[in-house]
Amino acid sequence: ERPAVTVVGSINMDLTVSTGQMPNQGETVIGEEFATFPGGKGANQAVAAARLGANVNMVGAIGDDVFGESLQNKLEQENIHTTAIHKLKDIATGTATIILSEGDNRIIVAPGANARLTPEIIRQHERMIQQSDIILLQLEVPLDTVQAVITIAQQYEVPVILNPAPYQSLPDALLSGVDYLTPNEMEAKAMLEDPNSHVTKEQLIVTNGEKGVLAYKDGVEQVIPGFPVDVLDTTGAGDTFNGALATQLASGMPLEEAVYYANAAAALSIMKLGAQSGMPSAEEVNTFIEERSDRT
Ligand code: RIB
Repeated sequence: ERPAVTVVGSINMDLTVSTGQMPNQGETVIGEEFATFPGGKGANQAVAAARLGANVNMVGAIGDDVFGESLQNKLEQENIHTTAIHKLKDIATGTATIILSEGDNRIIVAPGANARLTPEIIRQHERMIQQSDIILLQLEVPLDTVQAVITIAQQYEVPVILNPAPYQSLPDALLSGVDYLTPNEMEAKAMLEDPNSHVTKEQLIVTNGEKGVLAYKDGVEQVIPGFPVDVLDTTGAGDTFNGALATQLASGMPLEEAVYYANAAAALSIMKLGAQSGMPSAEEVNTFIEERSDRT
C-alpha cells in the first residue's frame, strides 16, 4: 500500500530570473531569461513525495487569484489531494522572487496567503493528520500553525519531519514533538548555537549538498554519501530530499537507507530548471542508484 504523507506548508509561485552577474546594491544588471515555476517549500515537498509514489495530502493556503488557481491545478495534476488547500479572500498567493546565478540562488519570499494558514484551519484537518503515516513540515507558515500540527500528530503518535527552513529560533516545546529535523548545514549551525533551542542529536539529519548527509545512530556520527552531478538549479533540492525521506520512512525503510535514497532523488532534481521540474519518479531514482553503484 502507498504510504500516506501529509504535507502542511507553503504554496508559492516562483518568479525566476537568471543572470550572469548578481546585481550589487543600487546596481541594475541586464539578466537572461525570466520564467514562472510552481514552488513553495510545502508544495515542492508534496510533489517530490507524490512522484515517488506516496499518497499525498497537502494542507495550505492560496489567494483567490491566477497564481493560486494555477498552483492548485498543478498539484492536482501530480495526483495530490487538494481538499485541504484553502482559497482565501483579499490576500495574494505567496510568491518567491528568485535570482539564479552560476547554479546558486537568492530568494525573497512574500508569504501572502501562507501567513494566513492558522491553527484554527489546522484543527479542521485533525482526522487527516491522524490517518497519515508521516507528517512533513517546514517554516514558511506561522510557527503557531506548525505547533498546532505537531500537537495533533503527537496525540495520535504520527511521526513528524520538520525541515527548519527558512530558519527561525524554535522553542523546546515544539522541538520535543519532532521526530526528524532536517536542516542544511547553515541552519544546523544556527540551531546548535541558539541558546533557546535544545536539539537532540538523534533527531538531526543535516544535509550538505553533494557532500552528503550527517546523521546520528546511538550517538555516533554517520555520514551518508551524496551524489555529485552537474548543477543547473539547486532550488528545491532540499525539498526533494525531504519529500523523498518522508515517503521512504513512511513505507518503513530504515533511516540510513531512506537518507541514501533521498540523496539520490535530490541529486537528480538539480539537473533541471525550476524547483519541481527535475523531481524524479521512483523508477528514475532506482535506475540512478544502480548506475552509480556500477561505477564504483
Ligand atoms: O525551497 C525552495 C522554495 O523556497 C522555492 O520554491 C520558493 O518558493 C521558496 O519557498
